[in-house]
Amino acid sequence: MQFAGHMAEGADKLWRAWGDGAELDLDQECRRLTLRVLARSVLGVDLDARADPLGEPLRTAAVYVADRAVRPVRAPWWLPTPARRRARAASATFHGLADDILQGCRADPTRDAPLVRALIDVADPETGQPLSDEDIRHELVVFLGAGYDTTATTLTYALWALGHHLDLQDRVAAEVAAVGDRPLTSEDVPRLGYTVQVLHEALRLCPPAAGTSRMVMKDFDVDGYRVEAGTLVLVGIYAMHRDPVLWDHPLVFDPDRFSPANSKDRDRWQFLPFGGGPRSCIGDHFAMLEATLGLATIIRHTEIQSLDDDFPLAVPFTMVAAAPIRARVRPRN
Ligand code: HEM
Repeated sequence: MQFAGHMAEGADKLWRAWGDGAELDLDQECRRLTLRVLARSVLGVDLDARADPLGEPLRTAAVYVADRAVRPVRAPWWLPTPARRRARAASATFHGLADDILQGCRADPTRDAPLVRALIDVADPETGQPLSDEDIRHELVVFLGAGYDTTATTLTYALWALGHHLDLQDRVAAEVAAVGDRPLTSEDVPRLGYTVQVLHEALRLCPPAAGTSRMVMKDFDVDGYRVEAGTLVLVGIYAMHRDPVLWDHPLVFDPDRFSPANSKDRDRWQFLPFGGGPRSCIGDHFAMLEATLGLATIIRHTEIQSLDDDFPLAVPFTMVAAAPIRARVRPRN
């Protein structure tokens, strides 16, 4: 699968740029990687800039939306508040990028951009109507917004945790070494079971989507409380993933809890990093493939030593690192 090639290549470029003994910010490095991979794989563009071109606009727009959603009293839409002006400018940056991508694909039919092509070619099964350019731009913005921070944070948390547990890190290194000395492909994923367990444990303790919501369609009872149709209910994924009733030693980073033997009797609904049901995350396979090949490629070549005890979290919209996540890196022999 071509996506896998972009993923392994992106991770390879990343670690090669690190000097022996360098101190770096894992969050910044992982954001660079995931943006590059998402852009290359599904949008057909190179977003290789050293600076993070979307992080700031993404957060500005997301903070505004999240903040407005929970305010009991909201300023009317037409009032030009400073926050709204900033959010509009951020949104314009995103939409401008989406438009460049779309027009670039229309102008060059050979450009390898599977998602954009799929959106251009799709037609309403009933009316035969294609998506308008504006619809496509909105879809691209959603994919950029949903797929960038989330995967970056997962990878950052996994690397940070491994940087505190060198024994677990060595297990990942041994697993990937056993695959052989060649670029990893999607066919290797079944042989990277422990690497996937590490990512699941990272997603348990640091689920980038800390919660999700559903509109109740019919009345039902929860623990004797009546919930009426039309109520908006929130599922606290972060709280559930750390609930001592559901998990032994919930704050301990222990990828073995996701071994096949330890997982087989677990309730499917207590681990929901990608949500569940018909509206679960559409990018879950892409994200897991990217994170698995990225983590395995980095650990295969590099030893990570985390320099900070804590992983401070902020929730501007999805859950992200609230500060640089410092680590020292060395080539692995
Ligand atoms: C580790 C990375 C990711 C995590 C943790 C994550 C998590 C989630 C969660 C929890 C939801 C809501 C599901 C629900 O309510 O049941 C969601 C929805 C969504 N995600 Fe992801 N996601 C990730 C990566 C991605 C990627 C890479 C893409 C696209 C390339 C993506 C695109 C979407 C979209 C479009 C939706 C909305 C789906 C719908 O409403 O039908 N996500 N994601």
